[in-house]
Amino acid sequence: MVEMLDLDGEVLRDHLDSVTGWIAGHLGEHPVRTIIDLGAGTGTGTFALLRRFGDARVTAVDASAGLLGRLTARAEHLGLGDRVATREVDLDASALGTPPADLAWASASMHHLADPARVLADLRTSLVPGGLFAMIEFETFPRFLPDDIGLGAPGLEDRLNAIADRQRQAHHPTVNSDWTSALTAGGFTVREERTFGISQVAPLSGAAQRYARVTLSRLRQGIGDQLPADDRATLDALLSDDGPHRLEIRTDLGVRSERRAWVASPTA
Ligand SMILES: C[S@@+](CC[C@H](N)C(=O)[O-])C[C@H]1O[C@@H](n2cnc3c(N)ncnc32)[C@H](O)[C@@H]1O
Repeated sequence: MVEMLDLDGEVLRDHLDSVTGWIAGHLGEHPVRTIIDLGAGTGTGTFALLRRFGDARVTAVDASAGLLGRLTARAEHLGLGDRVATREVDLDASALGTPPADLAWASASMHHLADPARVLADLRTSLVPGGLFAMIEFETFPRFLPDDIGLGAPGLEDRLNAIADRQRQAHHPTVNSDWTSALTAGGFTVREERTFGISQVAPLSGAAQRYARVTLSRLRQGIGDQLPADDRATLDALLSDDGPHRLEIRTDLGVRSERRAWVASPTA
């Protein structure tokens, strides 16, 4: 997962910059000095936010000490160590515990929480007056293959993702929540919500090709035992390191995904 999160930040850099630009537009003249990145992972959002808000410091919050350690090492490597603090906390068990911030950001993390409503209540009091909460969730998970990959397996990626979606729903029951209603019920007013489309076409960069491999390998690990034998064999052929059908010799890979984003403020 670590490499996938890092590649997500690298390959989708332009997308992240569009999202943070949209958020900056909503903040207007409000100075952004303190930001909370909730479920920060390896810092995909943290680094995009630091790029956008040049005077800001980010507190990256996550339950995983390992991911936060990687985030800190990367911040130091980039000369940004003095603008990043981390807080290791399991938000299913403990309060956020961060000082009030100008902006809170949660990307692909709210659906991981056992009780998002409790964390939203916490967040509501973790923003300064005029502060905003920005939330991003996957509308569709990344896709890389054309509909017909030409190996006698049309629709392979749709079938893989249908199984993965069911598994995600079983592990994370809130993944398909009506987040607009959840925000409203949690005491937030949604200023705007919109879908950001991601579309990169062939030929992909080396990093984007690697992102395709890492994401499809992770799918293979997670759902391999639920795949019909012929689909499993096709996926293995695509993921082979040196076989004739490996991903890297394809010229028709793309990156396609949609992410839904909300900008909300505590309701007065
Ligand atoms: C899919 S990752 C998203 C990471 C990052 N926001 C990004 O966009 O790349 C979800 C993150 O939520 C964190 N997380 C999951 N459950 C959590 C909890 N109960 N408390 C704090 N963090 C949690 C995970 O450790 C992981 O880093």
